[in-house]
Amino acid sequence: MDEKTTIISLSHVCKVFEDGVTVVDDFNLDVKEGEFITILGPSGCGKTTTLRMIAGFELPSSGQILLNGEDISLLPPYKRPVNTVFQHYALFPHLDVYDNVAFGLKLKRIPVEVTDRKGNKKIKMKRLSAKVIDEKVLRALQVVDLDEMEDRDVSTLSGGQQQRVAIARAIVNEPKVLLLDEPLSALDHKMRKDMQVELKEMHQKLGITFFYVTHDQEEALTMSDRIVVMKRGVIQQVGTPENIYNEPINAFVADFIGESNIYNGTMTAPNRVRFIGSVWKCPVEEGFTTNDIVDIVIRPEDVELRAKGEGIADGVIASKIFKGVHYEYIVKVGKNEVLCRDTRNHEVGKEVAIAVDPENIQLMHKELTVNEYGDAIIDNANRVIIGEDPFECDVTQLLKGSTLDEEGYLVDPNSKKRYDLKNAAVVAEVGLDKIALSDDLGSGQTQGTIISAVWIGDHWQYIVRTDDDEDFVVNSPYTWNENDLVSVSIAKEDIVLRLKKGIEDYAVD
Ligand SMILES: Nc1ncnc2c1ncn2[C@@H]1O[C@H](COP(=O)(O)OP(=O)(O)O)[C@@H](O)[C@H]1O
Ligand SMILES: [Mg+2]
Repeated sequence: MDEKTTIISLSHVCKVFEDGVTVVDDFNLDVKEGEFITILGPSGCGKTTTLRMIAGFELPSSGQILLNGEDISLLPPYKRPVNTVFQHYALFPHLDVYDNVAFGLKLKRIPVEVTDRKGNKKIKMKRLSAKVIDEKVLRALQVVDLDEMEDRDVSTLSGGQQQRVAIARAIVNEPKVLLLDEPLSALDHKMRKDMQVELKEMHQKLGITFFYVTHDQEEALTMSDRIVVMKRGVIQQVGTPENIYNEPINAFVADFIGESNIYNGTMTAPNRVRFIGSVWKCPVEEGFTTNDIVDIVIRPEDVELRAKGEGIADGVIASKIFKGVHYEYIVKVGKNEVLCRDTRNHEVGKEVAIAVDPENIQLMHKELTVNEYGDAIIDNANRVIIGEDPFECDVTQLLKGSTLDEEGYLVDPNSKKRYDLKNAAVVAEVGLDKIALSDDLGSGQTQGTIISAVWIGDHWQYIVRTDDDEDFVVNSPYTWNENDLVSVSIAKEDIVLRLKKGIEDYAVD
């Protein structure tokens, strides 16, 4: 393959808003000419802010954005060779398709060299001729497959057709880079699928760089040459769709891209790892040694269902869903759930065994900077369930300025809209220094066994594992031994929560 040139380069780009929150943190990325690159991440992770900095609607707080090697940080938006297609397209409802696309061109002035009566050459700003505009508009409409519809009133078009007009309006300016901010999110499922294919075709026809932003992993996997996975302003992983799907670098990426089984594990030998109550054979990988605490990722399609006693772990089929080509089963192995797929029809309640090819057991280093509980749930008393234990927490952090009313609903301070967070799926985070251990077993919200104790310079780092196989990593100045039973307590204000879906999913009124 030939070395493509870099068209956009983001170097140590940071964005801190007035409220002091860092929304984009040391973002580094080189985008190649003609590439289809996608930033993928949950709502609020800083995708739009990154795009707006490239477009010039927002300035980086620090760092540089280079276009073809030149710093464009101070160029105003209209002077940048980029165009943006927004999430919510704003077409002119009173204009037809042609005029919507031609609108910008009719206002545009380009420098032309003219000779005045005295024979002096001068540069004059001139409008484009009607013929040039006509050619450009028709070419753009051909790319988006709307060349038969130029006279149609935009208000009579379907959502997908309107979005194509919006794309035509962006590409008619012949940008070097097209920025697309969740352009398909307002479309229904079927239309979105069709448009994914069409966008990919447009990308090939145009040959320009597409810089795409989405929270939809399937969209990213389908269309992109490369994906940048982002979490709270920080790039987690950059790679091809195959690369990111097959070799997620950490539990966040694995969880975000496709469905995964993720477990806490402990290495018992260089090629053995213990999780969900059994010891499994796994690949020998550099950097993983006996006693290491790891995250295990297994894709559901890699779990084999076998007859009871003939696999690595025995379990019971707890649920099944017919998915067309295969069934999706949840197998309960002790207290753990294993998601798997199988084309055969088994009854719920059947005793089975599961097996996984060692090559399909992915080991990942646990990030020991914070305890992250990705499967936490809010209960009916606005507590957060971690593992199987409820912890008092402050749910008002999930909506800025909100309060709780006497019925336990979260209330928006401005709109007065109410939200019912019961059963809301959240990610809960607790700092390593925010967990207190005690020998008084009744004093905390849960208890567990110390499975690892490591002295780190001036303090101990413990891993406490509960009966539900939930781990708490704790920094402490006090001494315990492995296998000690301790209670775990966390103060209400030290639990940081993040909703997995948007808050609007929980609106009551
Ligand atoms: N102008 C602003 N002032 C303060 N905070 C902002 C501003 N714009 C966005 N944010 C915050 O920055 C974070 C990232 O926002 P955004 O880039 O829109 O995320 P995404 O597009 O990934 O959903 C959010 O927490 C958002 O509330
Ligand atoms: Mg956004």
